[in-house]
Amino acid sequence: MAAPQEAILTSLGEHQWYVHLSRTEGADLGVIKKALADLRTDCGRQGVNLCIMFGPTLLAELTDDIPADFQPYPGYKSADGKEAKATQEELLIWVHSDHKDRNWNTQYQFRTAVAGHMAVARETIAWIYGASLDLTGYIDGTGNPTPDRQGECAVIADGSPGAGGSFAIAQRWVHDLKYFFSLSPDDQDNLFGRTRADSTRLDKQVPTSHLSHVELREGETADASKSKRNEIVRRSTPYALHDGTVGLYFLGFCRDQAPLRERMEAIYGINGQVRDALTDYSTPASGSYYFAPSIEVLDSALR
Ligand code: HEM
Repeated sequence: MAAPQEAILTSLGEHQWYVHLSRTEGADLGVIKKALADLRTDCGRQGVNLCIMFGPTLLAELTDDIPADFQPYPGYKSADGKEAKATQEELLIWVHSDHKDRNWNTQYQFRTAVAGHMAVARETIAWIYGASLDLTGYIDGTGNPTPDRQGECAVIADGSPGAGGSFAIAQRWVHDLKYFFSLSPDDQDNLFGRTRADSTRLDKQVPTSHLSHVELREGETADASKSKRNEIVRRSTPYALHDGTVGLYFLGFCRDQAPLRERMEAIYGINGQVRDALTDYSTPASGSYYFAPSIEVLDSALR
């Protein structure tokens, strides 16, 4: 059975580091492959969880085992002008562990090794906030599949192209916390569709609630009488920048890409739904789709 990269399904370390890169002109793929192989060894040695994710262009040059329906991130815009802009890159390195120093060291060695061949487009340093909270104070992750089901939701099954791999969405959402905290407690609960106190799901989901957009069911979205479909595994964590910008680094995995796109289209009302109230207080500054190949594909591609 093809094995997924362990960093996806294992418990999150306290600290995360995300580095997005793309090739520069004249880049030598051999140098990049060698640096990725060394990064794997280095992370193993230092006990840092590593997930290597490729955009469509770089994946196509590394393996013939291409998953079906792998598209670049198109960007999303609501009819009233809210926008999730596209910032697709070729490579995302995600490291997480309880040791911020080791995370820094591993990604630093890698970016130094590919200097002149890849340029860092952006990076984000994130951390777990309390009991897995978003900076609004709401628990993020309650509706995730239970750990025993996460593999089947996030990883392509044997027998299909890309087996053992996982589609990913990565976005840095920027929060307007002042606006969020100006809402009444009821409006805050309704915005997500769960309570702040203990993440209890509200029986009545207003059309603007986040769950009314992302809790996909066999019938209507968020109709709790029907079973869930196309679940995703979320590994999001908050970040804060020196200029006061704060928000959520959203990272989600799925065995197909379409359910990631379907949720983004719902959030921005592109499917005819009213836009998700989440977008009243938060906007992604970046957004991209990647594919995290299996261990076997990495082993043969990065020699
Ligand atoms: C600022 C960005 C976001 C924030 C703060 C946020 C926050 C939340 C919160 C508080 C919940 C309810 C508790 C839980 O189940 O975790 C939730 C549920 C969920 N969110 Fe988000 N979210 C964000 C963006 C997104 C995006 C972009 C997607 C998908 C592309 C998404 C997919 C989901 C899913 C699938 C659920 C669980 C639904 C279920 O129970 O089946 N979220 N989110």
